[in-house]
Amino acid sequence: MRKKRIAVLASGNGSNLKAIIIAIATGKLKNVEIVCVGSNKTDAYALERAKEAGIPTFTLDYKAALQGVKDRTIFAPADLGWQNAVEDEATTQKLTSQAFVENELLDYMKKYAVDLLVCAGYMRVFTKYFLDRFQPDTFNPRVMNIHPSLLPAFPGTDGYGDTWKYGVKVYGPTVHFINSGVDTGPIILQTALYKKRNDTFDSFKERGLRAEWKLYPECIQLFVDGRLIVEPGEEKERNLVRIAPQKFATS
Ligand code: GRF
Repeated sequence: MRKKRIAVLASGNGSNLKAIIIAIATGKLKNVEIVCVGSNKTDAYALERAKEAGIPTFTLDYKAALQGVKDRTIFAPADLGWQNAVEDEATTQKLTSQAFVENELLDYMKKYAVDLLVCAGYMRVFTKYFLDRFQPDTFNPRVMNIHPSLLPAFPGTDGYGDTWKYGVKVYGPTVHFINSGVDTGPIILQTALYKKRNDTFDSFKERGLRAEWKLYPECIQLFVDGRLIVEPGEEKERNLVRIAPQKFATS
C-alpha cells in the first residue's frame, strides 16, 4: 500500500508536530509520511523541528502578500472569482492577498502530492478559495485541525486560556476537519479531561497538551486507514464523522 502523504502547518512551538514525527518513527502511526512542513512564521520552532527530522519546509508570507497587493505588485490568482463582489477596498485587498498565499500553498500541496493537510497550531484561517480547491467534496475532507477545547465550546485562538478562565471542570482537545467556519468543522475525536483541584494553569494546560499529542496521531491513523466516514447530520449543512470499524476500512 502506498504511504499516505501528509503536510503539517504550524505557527509556533510544534509540539504536536513532534508527537506526530515520534508516532511515525516508533511505528505507532503506520503507512504515512510527513512530506513537508509549512508555517506563516519564519521563526516558528516547528520549522526547526522539521529540519532536524529531515523534512522539507516552506513559509507562507501573508504580510508581504498584503503589502504587494496594496503596492500592486501582486495580483489575485486568475481563478479567483469573487473579489469583484466585495465592495470594501481593505477587505478586497485582504482576501486577494490571502488567496495569493493560498495559491502558493496549493502549489506546495501539488508539488508534494499531499493526501492530508494537518494543521497543528496554525494560526491562520483558510478562505473558501483554498477549501474549494483542496477539498472540493465536503464528504471527502482532507484538512484536519486540533483545537484545545471540547468544541463547540470555546472556539477561537486561546482555547486553554478561555476554558481556564471560565472555570470548567471538564475540558480537553478536539480534532476536527476544517470547513469554512472557525473551529466548526465535523468533529473526529475528542478527549475529555478533568480539571484537578490543585491545578495551576500550567498543569491544566500540560495535561491538555499531553492528550493532544496522543489524540492527533490516532485521528491521522483513522484517516490513513480510510475509517473516517463523513455523513450528513440532522442539522442543515452539518456533516458528521462516523468511525468505521477496522474490518470495513475502505483503503
Ligand atoms: C495546541 O494547543 C493546539 O491545540 C492549538 O495550538 C497549540 C499548538 O501547540 N491549535 P504546538 O505548536 O503543537 O506545541
